[in-house]
Amino acid sequence: MGLAHRLAYRALRPFLFSLDAERAHDLVMSCLANASPLTRRLISQARIDDPVTVAGLSFPNRVGLAAGLDKEARCLPALAAMGFGFIEVGSVAPRGEAWSPPPRIHRLPQAQALINRIGLHRGGLEPFCAALAQCSWPLDPRALVPVRLGVNLACNVATLASEAIGDYSSGLRATIAWADYFTINVSNPNASNRHVPDARPALDPWLQAIDEVRIALAKQTGRRPPVFLKVSPDLSETGVDALCEALRARSDRVDTNGLQWGVIVANTSARRDAVRGFPHTERAGGLSGAPLREPVNRLVAQMRRQLGNDIAIIGTGGILSGSDARERIEAGADLVQVYTGLIYRGPDLVREAATALRAIR
Ligand SMILES: Cc1cc2nc3c(=O)[nH]c(=O)nc-3n(C[C@H](O)[C@H](O)[C@H](O)COP(=O)(O)O)c2cc1C
Repeated sequence: MGLAHRLAYRALRPFLFSLDAERAHDLVMSCLANASPLTRRLISQARIDDPVTVAGLSFPNRVGLAAGLDKEARCLPALAAMGFGFIEVGSVAPRGEAWSPPPRIHRLPQAQALINRIGLHRGGLEPFCAALAQCSWPLDPRALVPVRLGVNLACNVATLASEAIGDYSSGLRATIAWADYFTINVSNPNASNRHVPDARPALDPWLQAIDEVRIALAKQTGRRPPVFLKVSPDLSETGVDALCEALRARSDRVDTNGLQWGVIVANTSARRDAVRGFPHTERAGGLSGAPLREPVNRLVAQMRRQLGNDIAIIGTGGILSGSDARERIEAGADLVQVYTGLIYRGPDLVREAATALRAIR
């Protein structure tokens, strides 16, 4: 089946790449959202069975879908059929956000990269929760260990830093019934407001405030999903130090009763040095894909050294092959996620990466 998927995507790709990037994205997503059971069977691939427990949660394998592809959580059954171990939806903020005029996604095929300035979920939490409520669970009934759902939360662009905890709490409350883990997007390259402090001591009370919401929710619902902070690949040395120290201090506390924190390394980059000279590099937005591979490997290795072994790391950025996934795990990540690699390689990448990671043990 792997070969069939590879050939099918190789045949389809020239057509998709002949369309404007956002149009191709919309077309594929609406096919996935409306996939009949037959179409779903055609795109489905056997999940590589490689169970692992990370941040207190069991995953069927170590390859996930990064946030932003299914921002609206409308394609979950079709995506789950592709063999992912986990799928992250969002980013979503409490209220809808209008997007800036197109073009908003640019392909840089020579660099196997994208530049995007797609905003947050356009409708906000209400339609997002309605989509989750319509889904049938578990996401893939064939999976022995359930395919996990991550919910990626953001603040509204106009929210003041002093009110940011309120936005994140609304997201945590509204979606806790479905989320196996949460991501707090502290690195949206397309938002100018700084919603999360990037230095100590301000970071410590911020983490504590989020934990207070989590403790209250755990009492009400019995659910204690881990929370991952999604960081920028452009984080400064002092930013890395501050974050790692604050997370370690938080995780060492006994009063949080075992609530787990983790990090997702990393979001898209504002830098252009690796793609200088290619078309579209002057466009506003975040860079993703192959140029992130090495800097993210270095950042993961540095954060692993500073975080120790008890805080989970999900490695995201520039994974376009099984060996890229393997390098990311060897750098210190526990799990990996892909997005741009799917555009260039197609769904076969999921299987290739999960197979490469299964071979590590
Ligand atoms: C078109 C597009 C939209 C994205 N939207 C989001 C988003 O809403 N929230 C988020 O946390 N990351 C978002 N990302 C970042 C990805 O989740 C991922 O962190 C980044 O692209 C690096 O991985 P990659 O090189 O495999 O694409 C987006 C990426 C792309 C290409």
